[in-house]
Order: sequence, then structure tokens, then C-alpha cells
Amino acid sequence: MTKHSSPLMAEYANVAQAPIEEAYSLPFAVYKDEDIHDLEMEKIFKNEWVFIVSEQEINHTGDYFAFTLAGEPIVILRGQDGAVRALSNVCRHRGTMLLDEGFGNVEKNIVCPYHAWTYSDEGTFKGAPFTGNVNIDKQAHCLLQFHLESWHGMLFIHLGEPTNSLLNRLEGIDDYIHHFELAKFEHGYRSDKLEHWDANWKLAMENAMESYHLFKVHKATLETVTPTRQAFDIAGYAEWALTGGEMKDTSSSLTKWFRGSYPKVFDNYVLISIPPSFVGILTSESLSWIQVLPVDSERCIVRSAGISNVKVSTEDKAEKAFVDAFFAEDKAICERVQRGMASTRARGGKLVTMEKVVVDFHQFLANRLFNTPISDFYEAPKAQLFLSESGNGE
Ligand code: FES
Ligand SMILES: [Fe+2]
Repeated sequence: MTKHSSPLMAEYANVAQAPIEEAYSLPFAVYKDEDIHDLEMEKIFKNEWVFIVSEQEINHTGDYFAFTLAGEPIVILRGQDGAVRALSNVCRHRGTMLLDEGFGNVEKNIVCPYHAWTYSDEGTFKGAPFTGNVNIDKQAHCLLQFHLESWHGMLFIHLGEPTNSLLNRLEGIDDYIHHFELAKFEHGYRSDKLEHWDANWKLAMENAMESYHLFKVHKATLETVTPTRQAFDIAGYAEWALTGGEMKDTSSSLTKWFRGSYPKVFDNYVLISIPPSFVGILTSESLSWIQVLPVDSERCIVRSAGISNVKVSTEDKAEKAFVDAFFAEDKAICERVQRGMASTRARGGKLVTMEKVVVDFHQFLANRLFNTPISDFYEAPKAQLFLSESGNGE
């Protein structure tokens, strides 16, 4: 274990590594302390695989998503050659941020808005105007490039030198979701806005991964389709965790008859948590996720998007209203927790069985920040349904 530079860090390490039986909420101060935030940026966001965007969302040549990760301006861009790259979004001349944050498209070149130094969409330096007698070393002025790996089209960036590949880190996960055939999810969809939440990034993640709050926070929305009572654990540990739940079947008996050999596993959703930034809900038709990016110790950006086997119309008003409604419910509750956590006297309580996935996340945090041990991989009895050949549990 590494040395902790403050009593708060020692307490963080201690509480976060506890197994479910002994697990408590983290000390509230770790959701607002700036030193802790800096440590999390260094040890996690700058030194771990972090989910950013799917290939399906930047499908065309020149499509990009620009963002800031732990203070680092970055752009993930699909070049003329069809490949996606993670490039530094900072001009090599005098440091101007090149592309506006968010989604966009470049035609072949990236041109700096300051003195028009120009880079190819692969990040190579192409030229600069009015350079006089000065010779600019092209090699030395290319945009920096970062490690990028894809899992079923989901792109994860690593700002440091990875000691483990993304696919190694996610080893085993595909066994539980093979029936859902992610390879068929060719269409990307997303909401246009990046939502700013007045909440620490860990709150947004914890909230997204546990199904314990559905019956209360989402009484009129999610609870009507994915009830808390029908949620269960599947498998996982600190590196990734799967929970699931039975969806309320609203289809008619005629539809059921048509479905015929539809395997039982498709009556369930799978919630996939890959810290630090990805929580997705997988059904037989789509994978919808939220992506969380820290802004500072008390604010984060939450983005929702997904991939599907059919083209999802962004015009579908009913669906959009439903998603907007539960998203707003999550934002409101997380911001409310953040306000509660302003307290310096109150302390957090015991975590319950349904919060096992939150405990896995806490162990991930403690492991990356303080090198503490993590609990063994677990598999719940329900996992058999997902592992079975037929998807009917046999
Ligand atoms: S800072 Fe980019 S061209 Fe000068
Ligand atoms: Fe929620």
C-alpha cells in the first residue's frame, strides 16, 4: 500500500477497499476535496482506460468528438484513411485549442484559428503561413497522439503508458453478453447536449450503476419498465461489473407468438459498469450509456448516447421524452446528494446488498489510488442464464 499524504486519504483507502459485508458510503469529503480530485485525475483519468465515444457516433470521414479529460484538450477523429485516432487538440505553435469541444466534422485539415498552422486529420504537420526565413521541422510539430482501443466500437483512451490492454482488462465480460450480439449494433445515436451536473463525478457513476434507487427516484419512468424488485447481480469485480434485471413485458400475446424462439435472456437487460466513465444498459436492441467526465471536484459532464441494431430516429418524441425525464431525475438527485455532502458533521451509512456494484467501484478507486487489494471475481447464480448456449438457461 502506498503512503497516504493526509488522514482523509487514509480514510478513503480504508473505507473504499471494504468488501460488501463491511462496506459503507465513502467519506463525504472525498466528493469535494480538491487534493483528492487531483489525485483521481493523475492516477485514474490520466492513467487508465477511459471510455469517451463510440466509433458509430463518428461514422463519417472527418467526424470528430473534442473534449477535455483531466485538463487535457483532446480530439477523437476519423481520418481520410478511415482510422480513428486520439489526438491532442492543442496547436504546436503557441498552444491554441484547435477544434471546438463537442461533435463536428473537419474537411481533411485541422487549421488553427490563431495563425492558421495546419495539420492533417492524422495529426501530421502540413504547413504554416508567413514563416519568413524560418524552417519548421515537420516531424517535431505533429499533434501528439494518445493510446486508443475499441471494445465493440466503444473507444477508450489512455493518456499514459498502459501496462494492460483494454481487452485484457475486460477479459471475461463478453461471455455474459454474447447473446446480445453487439457486433450488429451498427447505428449510433446521441443526445446533442453535454449536461453539466453540479455533482462530483463519482456520484454520477454510483447513481448510474445501482438499481436500488429506481423505485423511488424513477417511480413513474424507469421503475415501470425495469423494476428495482426484479434487479439482480450477474458477475464482475472491481475492473468491470454486470448487473441485470427483468424488464416488464408489455408486449401482446400476438407479439409473443410472433417472437417464437426468442430466447428468455432477452427478457432481461444487462447493466454494464466499466469505471471510471462508462455505465451502459444493454438490451436485445440497443446499448445505451452515460459517459461521465469530471470537470472539477464538485462538477462533472454527463453525456448520454448509444448504439443499436436499427436506425434510431432522434425524432421519436415519446422515447426522447422518457429518456429526458429519467435523466433529469438522476441529475436532480445527484445534485441533491452533493448538497447534502456539504455537511462536515454527518457521516455516510452502510451499503446494502443491491449496492454490491458500488462496492466494486469503490474497490477500483482504492486500488488505483492507493494500491489496495480488490475482492475476487464473483458470479451470481443468475449468470447461468446469460452463459448458456440457448439463452434459455439450459
Ligand atoms: S497558435 Fe496555432 S497557429 Fe499560432
Ligand atoms: Fe437513475
